[in-house]
Amino acid sequence: MPGQVDGRVALVTGGGSGIGRATALRFAAEGARVVVADIVLEAGEETAQLIRDAGGEAQFAYVDVTDEDSVRSLVELTVNEYGRLDCAHNNAGILGPVAEFAEYRREDYERVIAVNVTGIWLCMQAELRQMLAQDPPEGGHSIVNTASIAGLVGSPTIPAYSVSKHAVVGMTNSVARGYGTRGIRANSVCPAIIDTPLAQPLFEHAESEERMRLRQAVGRFGEAEEVASMVVWLSSSDASFVTGTPIRVDGGALA
Ligand SMILES: NC(=O)c1ccc[n+]([C@@H]2O[C@H](COP(=O)([O-])OP(=O)(O)OC[C@H]3O[C@@H](n4cnc5c(N)ncnc54)[C@H](O)[C@@H]3O)[C@@H](O)[C@H]2O)c1
Repeated sequence: MPGQVDGRVALVTGGGSGIGRATALRFAAEGARVVVADIVLEAGEETAQLIRDAGGEAQFAYVDVTDEDSVRSLVELTVNEYGRLDCAHNNAGILGPVAEFAEYRREDYERVIAVNVTGIWLCMQAELRQMLAQDPPEGGHSIVNTASIAGLVGSPTIPAYSVSKHAVVGMTNSVARGYGTRGIRANSVCPAIIDTPLAQPLFEHAESEERMRLRQAVGRFGEAEEVASMVVWLSSSDASFVTGTPIRVDGGALA
């Protein structure tokens, strides 16, 4: 039976860890050829190797998403390697320090915005230029950006992160509206707390891990694979009428 994204070319940023690694593995398991991009070489290489070990096709590419030349080279490498770009998962992100709004240091705020906002902006620009030059696959080209439930409601302890994720939702919707008639869909995924390295500082600052678990209706944190399955579905032709949607993958946290 063909996979959900059989024969497509997928690009995943932040593919060396957590949600990005899980998505890269899932894309490959569903038949895509995958470019795994990350700023940490060993981690990204490891994901690509995991895919090849499982019989899939993958290539690692270094990227710093805050650097326009680096992002442009990433898309070029993808096209040189696999001929096209069908699905992009712009997922690289950082949490930034845990601190209240009035105490938040400007340099920390700017770093969070650089990676989480400017990074996705630059990736989408380079990806859109490539996608516009190709014929869309069935169901359209797909861009999925990793936002967060912190992009839908305020977060008093990680305010810069919350600003950045609101921006991700907004720019994704703008792209969805701007390119929908040209064969390109753009959606954002909004996870609650997922058990990855990024979330660890939240546990350290929490009054009680148990109370944090209970914020999700299902009473637990999410797994990276539970976000990956949504990203890959959004990238498939089954989601052909879904665009400009911030989709919660949050165990009912905002229900
Ligand atoms: N874990 C959660 O609870 C949670 C919840 C909601 C949203 N998210 C979002 O999911 C995404 C993935 O996070 P994760 O939890 O898997 O974290 P993670 O730390 O496990 O993975 C993030 C990856 O991004 C890479 N990265 C960081 N800066 C980069 C840069 N400048 N250029 C290229 N790569 C860079 C890191 O090297 C790492 O491999 C992030 O955007 C994060 O904000 C995470």
